[in-house]
Amino acid sequence: MSSSETSEYILSIDQGTTSTRAVVFDHTGQILASAQKEHTQHFPQAGWVEHDAVEIWQNTQEMISGALTEGGVTPEQIKALGITNQRETTVVWDRATGEPIHRALVWQDTRTQAIIDELAADGGTERFKERAGLPLATYFSGPKIRWVLDQVQGARERAEAGELLFGTMDTWLVWNLTGGTEGGVHITDVTNASRTLLMNIDTLDWNPEICAAIGVPEAVLPQIRSSSEVYAECAESSGIPGVPIAGILGDQHAATVGQACFEPGQGKNTYGTGNFMLINTGHEPVHNDQGLLTTLAYKFGAQPPVYALEGSIAVTGSLIQWLRDNLGLISSAAESEDRAENVKDHGGAYIVPAFSGLFAPYWRPEARGVIVGLTRYVTADHLCRAALESVAFQSAEVVEAMNASAPEDLTELKVDGGMVVNETLMQFQADLLGVDVVRPEVIETTALGAAYAAGLATGYWASTDELTSNWREGRRWRPTMDQDARSHRLTEWRKAVERSFNWVD
Ligand code: G3P
Repeated sequence: MSSSETSEYILSIDQGTTSTRAVVFDHTGQILASAQKEHTQHFPQAGWVEHDAVEIWQNTQEMISGALTEGGVTPEQIKALGITNQRETTVVWDRATGEPIHRALVWQDTRTQAIIDELAADGGTERFKERAGLPLATYFSGPKIRWVLDQVQGARERAEAGELLFGTMDTWLVWNLTGGTEGGVHITDVTNASRTLLMNIDTLDWNPEICAAIGVPEAVLPQIRSSSEVYAECAESSGIPGVPIAGILGDQHAATVGQACFEPGQGKNTYGTGNFMLINTGHEPVHNDQGLLTTLAYKFGAQPPVYALEGSIAVTGSLIQWLRDNLGLISSAAESEDRAENVKDHGGAYIVPAFSGLFAPYWRPEARGVIVGLTRYVTADHLCRAALESVAFQSAEVVEAMNASAPEDLTELKVDGGMVVNETLMQFQADLLGVDVVRPEVIETTALGAAYAAGLATGYWASTDELTSNWREGRRWRPTMDQDARSHRLTEWRKAVERSFNWVD
């Protein structure tokens, strides 16, 4: 047998908002093989965003087999499987048939605003914040479950009778990987559960009063487990029979682990469909009045949980997709950088992409996207530049909120995600922040974090120290903008943001 046939690897599934990928990692945290496929985005009406959970499950199976084939790896060589996922996206399915009763409601979907308003009428949008760590917002899963149960005929009675199951994508995939209707395991981890609004952030249990107030029968909810333990083995039907599933983390929490942010004060900013910055706050949940969410960073097995503060931005990479798919301004995401580089600056234009309202630090559900500063001078190239700049402006405001909440200001920003290959964006981000922006060698930190969780649970990696020593700097951008220019640009950006408010009565 050759050494590659005797080697063991960790397989990671990263089920994201736009695509699903399977990645095979070796012991040094390097990628041996990967496969990726986009799934369909359904926009049935303004503000609604849906995914077909069955399509996502099929893509997952296809990508697992694609990655193993590319790496020349057999299922027997996979020591463990880790799963990471777009968070909050809500699927409800029939326990007996395995069929979803509605397309999945994606985290960006704003159809639950009426439910949010109704709940907020009794105690305001912060009524569950102390217990759940989150404000009332359309973003989170609980109100989405309520919507599905209210709208699909007979669903509420069936849910109460235990015939329906709810899951975020981790739960849906684990249930299917472990046999589905033939004994599928119905679980989630603390990080995903922390995004439902239904979990008590201190006890890490479903909170019966919040479930009752929102209108979610506890019978539909999965069991909450840690982020790193052997939960179950994959079933024969999965294509990787016998492989232990040993890690589950929401994608932003996985990136925090993948970036080895194991000490309080360490954090990362991920540039994906949206941008999400998480800072490790240690073993106690830290509550905050700067528009940041209190969430779990991770919980490894029986060890105490580690918490985080999060700044969530709904629209960053998806703005570039919108330029491509809805406006036809560019033919690929990469082209946005070329177009932005054709011009020396933004030409006076600002884009505020409040497509799902504005998340952190504003939490303005009624906000809608605006483009301001238009003159006859502005070209498509300027708009591409303004779009990229909006990504950096939004993150700069989240960093400001983090600095206002932490004992010390951030001294550098660790970044990852698909958009960090964009040099123009990263340089502008460093310029706006006035601190270095640092990218690791492996930018697939989300998939890596889930692999780390699975590898820790199965002894593939011995400790977080070993993971920390895998982290290597890949690229660094240093600020070049002077303080006056920085303040001027941020002031103009804030004026543009104000223009996005109060579009809906
Ligand atoms: O909360 C939503 C987030 O988990 C989505 O992440 O990377 O799919 O944009 P991403």
